Amino acid sequence: MITMNAFETKWLGKEFYHKESTDSTSLDIKRLADQGSIDGTVVSADMQTAGKGRRGRIWQSANGENLLFSILLRPDMKPDKAPQITLLMALAVTKVLRQEYAFDAKIKWPNDVVINGKKVCGILTEMFLNGSDIDSVIVGTGINVNQTVIPDELSESATSLLLEKGQSFIREEILNKVLSAFEQYYENFLREGSLESIVPQYNEWLVSLNTEVRVLDPKGEYSGIARGINAGGELLVELSDGTIEIVYAGEVSVRGVYGYV
Ligand code: BTN
Repeated sequence: MITMNAFETKWLGKEFYHKESTDSTSLDIKRLADQGSIDGTVVSADMQTAGKGRRGRIWQSANGENLLFSILLRPDMKPDKAPQITLLMALAVTKVLRQEYAFDAKIKWPNDVVINGKKVCGILTEMFLNGSDIDSVIVGTGINVNQTVIPDELSESATSLLLEKGQSFIREEILNKVLSAFEQYYENFLREGSLESIVPQYNEWLVSLNTEVRVLDPKGEYSGIARGINAGGELLVELSDGTIEIVYAGEVSVRGVYGYV
């Protein structure tokens, strides 16, 4: 059943389902993709029993408080470009939180959104291939909206919009605005074939721009100054000898020298 929606998008979310409870909206989208659902299908949920985070972690979210949604995309592009889509969603969420809700939201490369140094949004992008072509890309996004209590183990590193502003927010309104912003960024990306036109905006909102970061590379940790992303979405880190290291997402994570950001 398609749930009625009033998104102000052109094509994104025209096939839309909202569930009170599900295992994971990204698993829902995968099942829909396998049944032939169209580009731009969106599933949202009030709660997930098996919410997936990056690196095999669990994404926890209290029932009915937050935004949990996943998007099905079927782009005609080389598979190695698909991870860049994640940065577009980080940019869309940041733009909406800044420009529509006056939060000082920033991006923690590649795709966390933070407010006052704490994570408020996480994005998990998964790609499925048919031979060597993309069958589907699933962009799953969790935004902590009206969450009142952050579990102890996350209280230093996570927050919600409600905790930051002392008021609650209408989740559907945020979803509508984020989908509209993402649709625009994504259309540009498809047209231009790279992130080039969003690089200045992304770097302006990059929380670590021109600050010292630690790169946790499995092949060896090192520190340097974050100088922003390039048109491929990779982070440029300047080492003490002035050389620039290009950091690919994937297995590497980047931290501030004093903590999460
Ligand atoms: C992260 O680890 O930062 C990414 C978290 C992504 C969570 C969202 S919630 C909606 C969608 N469904 C999932 O199971 N995961 C993503």
